[in-house]
Amino acid sequence: MYISEKAPAKINLTLDVLYKRNDGYHELEMVMTTIDLADRIDLHPLPDDVILLESSSGLVPQDERNLAYLAAKMLKEKLGIKKGVSIYISKQIPVAGGLAGGSSDAAATLRGLNKLWGLGLSLKELAKIGAEIGSDVPFCVYSNTAIARGRGEILTPLPPPPPCWIVLAKPVHGVSTADVFRQIRVNEIKLRPSTEKMVEAIKQGDYDAMTKLLVNVIEPITMKMHPEVKKIKEKMIQFGADGVLMSGSGPTVFGLVRNESRVPRIVNSLRGFCQQVFAVRMLGILDQGLTK
Ligand code: C5P
Repeated sequence: MYISEKAPAKINLTLDVLYKRNDGYHELEMVMTTIDLADRIDLHPLPDDVILLESSSGLVPQDERNLAYLAAKMLKEKLGIKKGVSIYISKQIPVAGGLAGGSSDAAATLRGLNKLWGLGLSLKELAKIGAEIGSDVPFCVYSNTAIARGRGEILTPLPPPPPCWIVLAKPVHGVSTADVFRQIRVNEIKLRPSTEKMVEAIKQGDYDAMTKLLVNVIEPITMKMHPEVKKIKEKMIQFGADGVLMSGSGPTVFGLVRNESRVPRIVNSLRGFCQQVFAVRMLGILDQGLTK
């Protein structure tokens, strides 16, 4: 028996940083959703009590620095499991891009091992373990649409956003989340998102309102380090995206597009100066058979 688990990327429709906490983390308020750009995690049982990790991408580490490896190690330690597993990550999501690729790989590993080893844990229990791995892992355990507060681990589920296309473009260089967060000065934030209005737009299925309410307070910081972010945003708007925003700490920029005929034009306009350009559908919720 082996398990194959989908690990979808997330985007931030809003991201607000409320204050810096005493533990060094930032208190956040974000609306996040799931898109149909995904890694695939294959889990095979091994006869020996070891964790092996391989990936289709040379860009991801193969030891504990990989969050999927860490997820398997933590699950084994917490539950006293003496079983081995080989983890293969088929990578699609850009690395260090603000799309929670590493976190989603970890979350999919938790869900997959829960099945492979017949642990019977709920998604809530997996999310609790996930919070120790990284701030975005609990969201990725559910891979739905939600308001995320606290470090990102306090989740309020929302219905899926109105369907649309999402064009994504990642500048060549990735960013370190920690580097970006270090540069945030909360009292210098000029434009903040309205979580309340975004939630209302999603609940009403109001696509136009959703595209107008996209705000990420981290965007100006990453833009200073990577001027390509601004260029990509301008190109996407020029070629007909309805709303554009940088996701998470960046530098990936996404554009929401309702009219399918515009998608190829936007993609082609970006191919010239971005290595990684994708056009995918909004997912909003991952069908994984378990909801609790
Ligand atoms: O939790 P995670 O390991 O993904 O976070 C990576 C880094 O991002 C943290 O070490 C911290 O510097 C920053 N961070 C933060 N506030 C958050 C989440 C992450 O400052 N809520």
